[in-house]
Amino acid sequence: MGFAGMMALADIRRDIRGDAFFVSETSPAAVVILAAGEGKRMKSRTPKVLHALCGRTLLGHALAAADELDPARLVVVVGHGREEVSAEAAAVIPGALIVGQDQQLGTGHAVRMVTEAIGSMPGTVVVTYADMPLLRGETLRELVDRHHQAGNAVTVLTARGDAAGYGRIVRDDAGAFLRIVEERDATPDERAIDEYNSGCYAFDGSLLEDAIKRVTTDNEQQQEYLTDVVAILRGDGHRVGTMLAADAGEISGVNDRVQLAQARRELNDRILDGWMRAGVTIIDPASTWIDVTVTIGQDAEIGPQTQLQGATVIGEGAKVGPGCLLEDTIVGEDAAVSLAVCKRAEIGPRATVGPYAYLRPGTSLAEDAHVGAHVELKKASVGPGAKVPHLTYVGDATIGAGANIGAGTIFANYDGVAKNHTTVGEHAFIGSNSVLVAPVAIGDGAYTAAGSAITDEVPAGDLGVARGRQHNSDGWVARNRQETRSAEAAARVRSEESV
Ligand code: UD1
Ligand code: CA
Repeated sequence: MGFAGMMALADIRRDIRGDAFFVSETSPAAVVILAAGEGKRMKSRTPKVLHALCGRTLLGHALAAADELDPARLVVVVGHGREEVSAEAAAVIPGALIVGQDQQLGTGHAVRMVTEAIGSMPGTVVVTYADMPLLRGETLRELVDRHHQAGNAVTVLTARGDAAGYGRIVRDDAGAFLRIVEERDATPDERAIDEYNSGCYAFDGSLLEDAIKRVTTDNEQQQEYLTDVVAILRGDGHRVGTMLAADAGEISGVNDRVQLAQARRELNDRILDGWMRAGVTIIDPASTWIDVTVTIGQDAEIGPQTQLQGATVIGEGAKVGPGCLLEDTIVGEDAAVSLAVCKRAEIGPRATVGPYAYLRPGTSLAEDAHVGAHVELKKASVGPGAKVPHLTYVGDATIGAGANIGAGTIFANYDGVAKNHTTVGEHAFIGSNSVLVAPVAIGDGAYTAAGSAITDEVPAGDLGVARGRQHNSDGWVARNRQETRSAEAAARVRSEESV
């Protein structure tokens, strides 16, 4: 296909973090993600590739990077934790194909399971691992593009640096790529090579299908090595090539929880840098954690000790932090949230939340609403400009525009059997320390007296009073608390009054 033809198929995608544009040529026939390994060093009940960082599992990151190539098929090879791993793959990419590898007999064996299950895959087949969360989709794209441009049968993504543990890239005196040798099979001279195999490749699918059948187990581990395909293809007279990764950090794998934490820190830095370059202020990047799935508007400011998770969206100019944990929460433009935990909540434009607020699922605050200190809300909608300033629980309620909920009010929504709803009308005024016993309704503009336990409707414009009347027992202290400081203090006032 000529260059013009490739451009006709061009697909321009924008990186969600806004740091790059890139143009793809043809989409690969398949991306194969190897995910059958056990991951013993994680020492976990959870399969390694299901451990999460920055809002996705390891497998989820690999799938997202692969999906950026728009492959005709996305294949995941599963073995250990087969059911859970397959379920995660299907949840992230519903069309993903699952191929089982019951015994882990090597990376070549894993790929052979795929070619045997799927058959011929003419076109480009990319093979990568599920445990390289820092690998960018763009890097895979570049690998595919270079592979096409060079007309290679295989192009291996390589890196330079500390090669310990990796397969080494063996070249002839002229620098031509010959083969890959595993560290355990390498001679001392080969071990001294500092260019190593990432484990990521672009193959000609038809040639791969044939070559993979010819891989032997003639090595120290007696496994089928995918890496042997390079020498096989070269032996058949095909072109083999490499692409050196610009950033060796991208291909570092996660094998234990120390590496998981390092990868999380690295990916988080990348995400934060992207948002700062997009016009978001982050006061303390060292204590801020933002999932790859979060969206943030320009001129937002993220304070220290803040975590933004899941499908959270922060509007332009909003201030979030210090000390916030937001999960799947929408924050409107110019809203301000501090020291708060919010889950599946919606905070309207210019609304203010905290310090010390807990917004649980189903909470929605309209524009200019205010939720203050030590307030918890659940399945509650708070109208425009309404205020819930202090020490309050609001559950299963609708609060009208401009209403004021006094300090210490409790919406008693649970009768021990069922949850019941409370409605507070527009511009209603709930006196401090009221208990609103649901189901109950307070009308528009109605008041409740402080300390009331409201069990019946208060119609619009009425004052609801539901408490004992005050009675003072004259001279009680003098009679019952003789010779106490209280009695003396009272006596001084009483003697002055009697003068
Ligand atoms: C492999 C490469 C090595 C490269 C390194 C990069 C081979 C023979 N060697 O070595 O050149 O430098 O990766 O990290 O390919 N897997 C399966 N099924 C298997 C075996 C492995 O799905 O039967 C998966 C594992 O879950 C893992 C990945 O493939 O995600 C790599 O396997 P691993 O055994 O760690 O390969 P290395 O020995 O590290
Ligand atoms: Ca490995």
